[in-house]
Amino acid sequence: MSDLTSTDLFDLSPVVPVVVVDTLDQAVPVARALADGGVPVVELTLRTSVALDAIRAIAAEVPEVVIGAGTVTSPALAKQAAEAGARFLVSPGATPSLLAAMRETGLPFLPGTATVSEALAVLETGHTAMKFFPAEASGGAKFLGSLPSVLPDARFCPTGGITLANAPSYLGLANVGCVGGSWLTPADALAAGDWDRVTALAAATAALR
Ligand code: 3PG
Repeated sequence: MSDLTSTDLFDLSPVVPVVVVDTLDQAVPVARALADGGVPVVELTLRTSVALDAIRAIAAEVPEVVIGAGTVTSPALAKQAAEAGARFLVSPGATPSLLAAMRETGLPFLPGTATVSEALAVLETGHTAMKFFPAEASGGAKFLGSLPSVLPDARFCPTGGITLANAPSYLGLANVGCVGGSWLTPADALAAGDWDRVTALAAATAALR
């Protein structure tokens, strides 16, 4: 279970960093660097072999950060992420079995949608908070801005192609709760252990919203 609801996820930070760690020793420092820059949330993607251990490490050692799991693409990964200590789950899509598994964990979650019909399918389950992915490739802010008249209850965290430059065009929309992106944690900065750069990139997002 979690002390957060799915809609609470929109209030943690205007920007949710989407983080890929290649080695376990990157996990705690990158989470601390983001928190130092004023971003107290991490979506740790399940894309590398160390990802579940990275979630465990951040949950244990960086309590000031709300650690979640991203790229949750199967029911098994939803369960494993919850067991590792993730406090929220994010998926790039939303099949019926994945939705059921994410709900089963008791954690808040953002299922991925990219079309009106996909958003409707999630709304039919009684869930209003979702990810919009891949945002820029799926119509971007123009697409999302077209939805409130037909889907007034849906709220989105767009990710995919979002940058410091285009984030404001999303954050200005009434149906956008936050945006997500990997630009705060560039792979070369993590590989070099350049935590000051990550902190500076995080701090630059403080001006958003
Ligand atoms: C995600 O999982 O949300 C995306 O990989 C983030 O996309 P970006 O790398 O374009 O920010």
